[in-house]
Amino acid sequence: MDRIRIVGGKPLTGAIPISGAKNATLPLMIAALLTEDTLVLDNVPHLADVGLLERILGNHGVDVMIAGKRPGENGANGRTLHISAKNIVDTTAPYELVSKMRASFWVVAPLVARMGEAKVSMPGGCAIGTRPVDLLIMALEKLGAEIEIEGGYVVARAKNGLRGGEIEFPKVTVGGTHTALMAAALARGTTVIENAAREPEIGDVADCLNKMGAKISGAGTARIVVEGVARLNGARHSVLPDRIETGTYAMAVAMTGGDVLLQNARPELLQGALDALAQTGVTVTPTNEGIRIARNGAGLMPVDVTTEPFPGFPTDLQAQLMALMTRAKGTSRITETIFENRFMHVQELVRLGARIQLDGQTATIEGVERLNGAPVMATDLRASVSLVIAGLAAEGETVVNRVYHLDRGFERVEEKLARCGAEIERISD
Ligand code: UD1
Repeated sequence: MDRIRIVGGKPLTGAIPISGAKNATLPLMIAALLTEDTLVLDNVPHLADVGLLERILGNHGVDVMIAGKRPGENGANGRTLHISAKNIVDTTAPYELVSKMRASFWVVAPLVARMGEAKVSMPGGCAIGTRPVDLLIMALEKLGAEIEIEGGYVVARAKNGLRGGEIEFPKVTVGGTHTALMAAALARGTTVIENAAREPEIGDVADCLNKMGAKISGAGTARIVVEGVARLNGARHSVLPDRIETGTYAMAVAMTGGDVLLQNARPELLQGALDALAQTGVTVTPTNEGIRIARNGAGLMPVDVTTEPFPGFPTDLQAQLMALMTRAKGTSRITETIFENRFMHVQELVRLGARIQLDGQTATIEGVERLNGAPVMATDLRASVSLVIAGLAAEGETVVNRVYHLDRGFERVEEKLARCGAEIERISD
């Protein structure tokens, strides 16, 4: 199993290209199930989760063609996928595949909308707390699907097709909103989604669906209206830049000091996180090419942050901010409101010398003069990258184990950081 070895203490300078967003790529690939025509996606990141979803879609009969290199491209460009769900031969998504990646459960919506039936394994437990699918099921039921739970599978049926309806989410859910959008796109009549998630990835998927012939308005606001259509067609769409990758590297630069341009990054996708960074004393400058992050010799100021649905501070950057705050001059507080058990990184940060107290959903972080390198391991994707950030500032050697979590969601992390001067390498056994 691969490990990442870091020797901390080097400032980061240069440029880091930001990849296409994982959290948009996954639902966009799933949306290809809605049409017999080919959906072409550009700027797709090289990630383990994308490969896994290719396998899951392949099991339904979907062909995924990966375009080869084009003139002027280098390894830093995203890939282009041609996805064809012309013939769906199997409407079951088995446990062995769905249990590896939660978002694969979302295939339930396009399958039932187009084929009238879907049998998808419940995703099961997850390292960051219980993540139920009750609201995704509620959304499908509101559109006329009959749902049964059989042997750990959700079986959804709509023999005569789905029909438009009113869906009001009691809680903001990204997966629930994707599910509602995809199901409503092919339902008969109008669907209104209230308290919809406003995450930029929802807007990106809605844009792509509209290119495919869907009639969606209001994506990006809390009220989305979908006029169902009888069929969708193929389209070409470029995945928006990854705001979580952007915020992660911004925090890495804040941690080490230095000056880095995050190429292709878009500030409006993570204003909440950039505001928090600015409060720590880091200079954040939007440019035509992306976002420039700089910190000179000055120390980091502590911040108090609460995770919230977009446009608030994202839960997917909580672990990274906590790593940063371990070196602040003073005491910070971070409250997690989205997932109840998303503090698995705390004990590992403490192994590096951090001072963190947990009280329910709030972590109190007392900044320390120095972190000391150590072997650490992570239990989820965002937690593992927070340990990389801590390692970049720790004295001596840090080895981050279980790197497969990192590879699920971050493309070539060691290469991107090494190009900017970090002493970091992948060790493969
Ligand atoms: C997505 C993101 C994930 C991010 C999360 C919150 C992808 C692939 N994943 O996950 O990176 O951390 O949004 O921004 O885009 N909930 C229920 N019932 C449900 C569904 C959700 O109670 O049926 C709860 C969850 O337990 C959680 C909250 O709603 O407390 C938000 O979850 P949700 O937005 O659905 O997260 P995901 O879509 O799984």
